Amino acid sequence: MAMSALALGCSHEKSMECVIEEAFANAERQALVLAGKYAGQEGMLPRTWENGEDVGSDSRWWTSGFFPGTLWYVYENTGNPEILEYAKEFTSRVEREKYTTDNHDVGFMLYCSFGNGLRLTGQEQYEEVLLTGARSLASRFTPSVGLIRSWDHSTDRWQYPVIIDNMMNLELLMWAAEHSGDSSLKEICISHADKTLEHHYRPDGSCWHVVSYDKETGMPHIKQTHQGYSDDSSWSRGQAWGLYGYTCMYRLTGYDRYLQQARHIAAFLLDHKNMPEDGVPYWDYDSPDIPDTPRDVSAAAVMASALIELSGYADGSEAGKYMDFAEKQIRSLASEKYTATPGENGGFILMHSTGAYPLGSEIDVPLTYADYYYLEALTRMKRKISATGM
Ligand code: GLY
Repeated sequence: MAMSALALGCSHEKSMECVIEEAFANAERQALVLAGKYAGQEGMLPRTWENGEDVGSDSRWWTSGFFPGTLWYVYENTGNPEILEYAKEFTSRVEREKYTTDNHDVGFMLYCSFGNGLRLTGQEQYEEVLLTGARSLASRFTPSVGLIRSWDHSTDRWQYPVIIDNMMNLELLMWAAEHSGDSSLKEICISHADKTLEHHYRPDGSCWHVVSYDKETGMPHIKQTHQGYSDDSSWSRGQAWGLYGYTCMYRLTGYDRYLQQARHIAAFLLDHKNMPEDGVPYWDYDSPDIPDTPRDVSAAAVMASALIELSGYADGSEAGKYMDFAEKQIRSLASEKYTATPGENGGFILMHSTGAYPLGSEIDVPLTYADYYYLEALTRMKRKISATGM
């Protein structure tokens, strides 16, 4: 069980340990609320909570793996056996996605759910799910283009669309390459990461959301946005996906070019003139309505988690800068401004995320992936504190 904040002696000027312990105690309460609501709804998983109503999805929606993953992080940090049972149950609801070949989200769906489940339980059956899912994802790679195709829709606009989010699916493939010994899966990841680096990124370290490739030449024919303010703007969550993706690919390959890319992205974000003082980005860094426009808490959570990892690959003041920023973001997210009162917010931990502003979808609401990456960031911060005694 999580130690109570009182037992830790948390005061007004809280230590990071106190912030983390309180956050997990709160996450445990909220997870029980949310899991309890969905437990009796066969095959359903939480997605958001809007206008006082639960909004769930079946496993087909791209976010299906995040609530199981949230439960695994809560279990890891509290040891609560009831949460463990829920983690297994909600993870099993995503299993059929191992056969998904019509979109690229298999990595999000399976690695956050089954990947964390395998890490924490060692259950062999989870390996089969991850390997099958990785093969399904790899089927979307076209050697002549050199990338994994993200979406199959909007063929009138895009010949072969690849979105920056797709960097997040590579961790599943890299795990499968290592686990199965099939080096072709690793080659797919490297090709995808290299071509994304070459064509998705602008000189300042920001990225486009969607790059569509000409199927004949393998070269970009269009660079656009789908969820950002404009084609040439910097959609906040996309920037965070890229930062996380290249940091992760550096860990998994040791290739310096991925580390340099992650540092370049971090420099763009940390010094951005439109980054708010509390480190929680607006939904797009170029929204003309700043500061009167919604934040995207999910972008802050993904970024904090990535920065903690990146700090481990940097030296001295640079490492300190990443950790200080991540700490600022975590303290902000843990504050009343973004963390819901226990029992409220539909059982989600964090408020104020934005899914797809231009589509009028999920604006200023809780989202499962904000909670998931927040708990991952807290877990990484906790490990860092115990390893370094900082
Ligand atoms: N991968 C979809 C999103 O970030 O909204």
